[in-house]
Amino acid sequence: MIFVLLRPCTGYTGTGHGMEPSSQIDKSKLPQHIAIIMDGNGRWAEERGQDRLFGHLNGVESVRNVVEGAAELGVKYLTLYAFSTENWERPPYEVSGLMELLVETIKKEVPTLNKNNIRLQVIGDVEMLPDNARKELEQAITDTAQNNGLTLILALSYSSRWEIVHAIRQMAAEVASGKINAQDIDKNYFERFLCTTGLPDPELLIRTGGEIRVSNFLLYQIAYAELYFTEVKWPDFRKNHLFEAIIDFQHRQRRFGKTGKQVVENKPEC
Ligand code: FPP
Repeated sequence: MIFVLLRPCTGYTGTGHGMEPSSQIDKSKLPQHIAIIMDGNGRWAEERGQDRLFGHLNGVESVRNVVEGAAELGVKYLTLYAFSTENWERPPYEVSGLMELLVETIKKEVPTLNKNNIRLQVIGDVEMLPDNARKELEQAITDTAQNNGLTLILALSYSSRWEIVHAIRQMAAEVASGKINAQDIDKNYFERFLCTTGLPDPELLIRTGGEIRVSNFLLYQIAYAELYFTEVKWPDFRKNHLFEAIIDFQHRQRRFGKTGKQVVENKPEC
């Protein structure tokens, strides 16, 4: 048990604006789906002369706080990029530490998820996960399946390229078996094979930790998402940072390829 020696130690220290960020949010215009790339754990730990796992451990407190914030606001879907298919290439001790942390956290948090009416889902190549992690997740998904508040989606052993290739393989099998003709495949049909089928596309994608990239995360689904990058490293990220991202989102004009005038007037331009 690596984690008994490491104790989380961080907390939100305020934004310096004076006004509470949550009071500036228009709850009638919330993004219904927010996706987060939780980055910066390793650097956060290294800055403190600690092992990278110390960053991940502290990142769990951020997960709790942000999930609580999203649920309080009434966000319907929150997807967290917890482990990518590329993360399997990290040093074995970090991979097993992360898996251990995942199992411990899921086990511990199911009662809180139920208390807060939060449903858990997972996207990704779950077959790759160790047996105990997969079983724990399956149990947690079953135990929270009746909840209808926030849906918390953990992206685990996930990457978009894996997801898209996996989807195409399944579709190709349907074409080969004669279930569908290739020319009848359209956007809706394709989306049925993605991990996110049934979920609305994320409207807001947040990446913490200062890097400006999307790292193989929900590439198809974020076609029209608003992107928000912050220097704040994940272990320092708190619900007020989430609220600031939502406020920023609410100040953007989303045009979806139309003109600004069309969007304002909600009618086609002649
Ligand atoms: C990226 O930071 C973070 C991860 C690969 C893991 C995220 C995991 C957690 C926050 C903890 C467990 C989560 C749940 C849902 C229980 P990095 O290690 O790439 O940081 P760096 O860019 O500073 O190296």
